[in-house]
Amino acid sequence: MAETSAWTATVLSLFPEMFPGSLGQSLAGKALARGAWQLDVRDIRAQASDLHGSVDDMPFGGGAGMVMRPDIVDSALNDAVNPVDDQRPIIYLTPRGRPLDQARVQDLANDPGVILLCGRYEGVDQRVLDAWQAEEISVGDYVLSGGEPAALVLLDAVVRLLPGVMGTAESLSEESFERGLLEYPHYTRPADWVDRQGQKRSVPDILTSGHHGRIAEWRKAQAEQATRTRRPDLWQRYAAKNDEGQKR
Ligand code: ADE
Repeated sequence: MAETSAWTATVLSLFPEMFPGSLGQSLAGKALARGAWQLDVRDIRAQASDLHGSVDDMPFGGGAGMVMRPDIVDSALNDAVNPVDDQRPIIYLTPRGRPLDQARVQDLANDPGVILLCGRYEGVDQRVLDAWQAEEISVGDYVLSGGEPAALVLLDAVVRLLPGVMGTAESLSEESFERGLLEYPHYTRPADWVDRQGQKRSVPDILTSGHHGRIAEWRKAQAEQATRTRRPDLWQRYAAKNDEGQKR
């Protein structure tokens, strides 16, 4: 049988010191340390051929900022990707990309790994993205200073789904987005808690009732209500898929 190697993220960046960053801590960090996944970080500047180590240039057509050169990024990708058997998708993090969602995260966890290209400055020359058929992904409708924090977000979301990284499969299937809904609210001890205005705040009675069936119903109703009011976009999709949703 062919050897199965660990899920591997290759990250191409001008700021390789930003990795593993937060991924070196907590569950992802422990999983990395025991080899449940691998991180291969490469400095794009190592591809520069001139004395100044230049990797970017002015945008054609004018405008502010600098653009990462296609030849430099191409060399970095050539170094990182094995053309014979590398099945991993190449992802460029950019606010121009398709928004990342849990379904894409789940698919990436099922792939052998991922190659992440992080841009700085105004971005990367489009030709090299086209030539490598890079998938463009955004982590939200706001602009970060570069692709690195976005890569950390993507990796965090994927790594926690890898086999053996998180504890119980149950907590994964109950959580936000897994069924197209936001999650229900959580409560723990003490059952009665007094806030700083002196107001007593008690846990909803149903949660201490011991009726597992009714608790499950209550949680579902809470999840639906939160989704309807906070995320009408998600609610519409959920309602279209579910009979109960359509009746409302
Ligand atoms: N680079 C800068 N902003 C970004 C975003 N919102 N998503 C992905 N990459 C980015």
